Amino acid sequence: MERLQKVIARAGIASRRKSEELIKEGRVKVNGKVVTELGVKVTPTDKVEVNEIQIQREEPVYFLLYKPRGVISSVSDDKGRRVVTDFFSEQKERIYPVGRLDYDTSGVLLLTNDGEFANLLMHPRNQIDKVYVVKSKGIPSKENLLKLERGIQLEDGKTAPARVKMLSMDKQKQTAIIEIAIHEGRNRQVRRMFEAIGHDVLKLKRERFGFLTLNGLSAGDARELTPHEVKQLRALAMESSKKNS
Ligand code: URA
Repeated sequence: MERLQKVIARAGIASRRKSEELIKEGRVKVNGKVVTELGVKVTPTDKVEVNEIQIQREEPVYFLLYKPRGVISSVSDDKGRRVVTDFFSEQKERIYPVGRLDYDTSGVLLLTNDGEFANLLMHPRNQIDKVYVVKSKGIPSKENLLKLERGIQLEDGKTAPARVKMLSMDKQKQTAIIEIAIHEGRNRQVRRMFEAIGHDVLKLKRERFGFLTLNGLSAGDARELTPHEVKQLRALAMESSKKNS
């Protein structure tokens, strides 16, 4: 048995608090009857409707995928390109990615069917640290790396401070390998940050999402998160939420 508001939130319809409001407003039905009290618990077989639409009830599942390059972070693609859910064709639950990595970016990507969890992790206030490894065209100067670190003006605003580390450089090929840790998740953020200092990104990989790494996985491999990891991720998101409020 689970609380009604938790079940609604997990379906990704609204936050837990908003779900409580939906219940109080009389917009939720359980087995065809309007429920307006908050204490109600439901079983997995109870039919729950919000605004007359039945919600999907599934056991929550959580995965980490080592997304390869050349794959879309989506559940379908109208051009027929490979999508991240193709790696889970055996999975009966309807999972979707938590945020996105560009088509040409590889690395850690989480997938779940738990809408509340996905919303929590993606909320701009709760942004978790993400570590990327960049192969840049040309070798950025120390001043330019410092600019990345301090925050750089992009068309959608200045970026928050980042941690930046030069890992190696190839003077002959004029390329560099740089690690950058950011906690925001703006569209194409790392590529745009490097473009802003005059260096194209030749390769981009997300090595770490919070404490989750690619250890033991090859591109295209996936593993289920442990219940402890899921709990830790929730705690991490709440922690950053407190820090940023
Ligand atoms: N930053 C980018 O530019 N691309 C990604 O896929 C992720 C972060």
